[in-house]
Amino acid sequence: MYRTKNNGELRLNNVGEHVQLVGWVSKKRNFGSIVFIDLRDRYGITQIVLNENFSEIASKIKNEYIISVEGNVIERKSKNSILPTGDIEINVENVIIVNKSELTPLIIADETDALEDTRMKYRYLDLRRPVMQKNLITRHKIIKAFRSFLDNEDFIEIETPILAKTTPEGARDYLVPSRVNPGKFYALPQSPQLFKQLLMIAGFEKYYQVARCFRDEDLRADRQPDFTQIDIETSFMSELEIMTLLEKMFKDMFLNVTNYKLDLPLRRISFKDALNRYGSDKPDTRFGYELVDISNILVNNETFIIKDSLSNNGVVKAIKVEDKSTDISRKTIDELTEIAKKNHAKGLMWMRFLNNNFEGQMSKILSEKEKKELSEVLNLKNGDMIFAVAGKEWEYVCTSLGAIRTTLGKKFKNELLVGYDMLWVVDFPLFDYDYESNTYSSTHHPFTRPYDEDIPLLYTDPHKVRAHHYDLVLNGYELGSGSLRIYDQEIQRKVFDIIGLTNKEIENKFGFFINAFKYGTPPHGGVAFGIDRIAMILCGCDSIRDVIAFPKNASAVCPMTEAPTEVSQQQLDELSISINSKK
Ligand code: AMO
Repeated sequence: MYRTKNNGELRLNNVGEHVQLVGWVSKKRNFGSIVFIDLRDRYGITQIVLNENFSEIASKIKNEYIISVEGNVIERKSKNSILPTGDIEINVENVIIVNKSELTPLIIADETDALEDTRMKYRYLDLRRPVMQKNLITRHKIIKAFRSFLDNEDFIEIETPILAKTTPEGARDYLVPSRVNPGKFYALPQSPQLFKQLLMIAGFEKYYQVARCFRDEDLRADRQPDFTQIDIETSFMSELEIMTLLEKMFKDMFLNVTNYKLDLPLRRISFKDALNRYGSDKPDTRFGYELVDISNILVNNETFIIKDSLSNNGVVKAIKVEDKSTDISRKTIDELTEIAKKNHAKGLMWMRFLNNNFEGQMSKILSEKEKKELSEVLNLKNGDMIFAVAGKEWEYVCTSLGAIRTTLGKKFKNELLVGYDMLWVVDFPLFDYDYESNTYSSTHHPFTRPYDEDIPLLYTDPHKVRAHHYDLVLNGYELGSGSLRIYDQEIQRKVFDIIGLTNKEIENKFGFFINAFKYGTPPHGGVAFGIDRIAMILCGCDSIRDVIAFPKNASAVCPMTEAPTEVSQQQLDELSISINSKK
């Protein structure tokens, strides 16, 4: 036997007990004849006292050695109120070195200054840090809470293939060559979307899966090439019934994992309002800086960008940043301008309101009358700063100013960025329109069902069609996306047609799927939530890498295994693949 107790459980009421503990040496302090050791395992830290009888073995013990000790629980003279076990210590009667450790390349403690690549290279050591253990335990609890809720609601977990065919989530596929079918490839699933719909056709009615998904896309703090979804699909439920069920699932999870009581029903905000007010379809509504439409004030303005925008059905929108005029430097304005441009704005207008005077680039292009009206509409006070974007495309104006809002919110409204701000975004358009290429793509995915009353618009004004599509947003992150699905072959074909798929492409990619629709497809719908993002927010982390045991870095590389790696010529030959070395 290695232990009778763990390192997190002993308290004053255990004093007098004889115990055996095992764990890693977290810290060793030498006080001449007495040596104190902090012994660590997954459950916590216990202080171990080695008296002079153990001086020889004590001198050999180093950090991260595994030792097993036997002794009596005694009350500490100087207590440690930070440690749950801080009232007691173990007076050691026997100690054994179970295993040695070399000097670790990073310090095993919550605070670390190790570079992220070092942490990832020695991930097994990084994961020894109590904070990382806590994160992964929280992640486990989240998954467990979802599983148990869904199980109680009669859902069953069904696994779907990993070696699959291309799915419609819009990222690039990871391909896997087939040795036995030379020249042919599987695609790793970007989600189980098609399979879960087929399970509805198969009559399972309530499906879920903790599903691994794979997407070859540019990585960000909230994106990994392989990630995990809690994936759900149901038949014979309305949009409202599905959303109500999912809200209950989150309430249950929050209670179980964090003791937080989520207020239901969650707020619902339309896509249009979300963009108009916050410039984002995943708005963080914990702070202000709301977007205001100032087009009316500027209808007679002759500045090219304003005039050109407004005479082409465009819009001018502004945000006010209270009392920060003097805190926003030229350098910051330049950085903000870059952010706006990256989000399709032609530029960023700005001015300061200081001592009853307007200063800055935008003040030069506005008349006195326009300034006065702006001042009234925005309720300007001394020290306020204004940013504005003009453009022909409403969506680009909103999202570029929304990106400015988010950046400034993080900079100046930190004290408000606490707690959980959870809401649904609904009433999405069925299609995104790309002004440059003049093409449509699915806002969610091509299986999303349009509103019944909007179906005629598919044939006349596709951009006006609204979708049964709902996104769950928490603190400015999209946690999950879902929709009711099309179950009518003709509408499905029309949607494919609008997004530019030819009959041949439809047949190649989704023929098997469309074919299944012939055999009595039930009305169905579902959703998928990103487990990594949920865990990231609940653990208070800034990156999903901190809640994934073995993540990839920003270049999609695993610094520990060094995957992806080159493979042998023999493996390539078996797969009938030759590498184009010029690339
Ligand atoms: P969607 O593509 O919106 O929908 O994905 C659902 C959720 O999965 C998470 N997610 C990611 N998390 C980490 N890294 C990534 N690269 C990544 N990509 C997505 C997000 C996102 O909200 N099949 C549909 C769902 C459905 O219609 O049922 C789908 O996958 O949290």
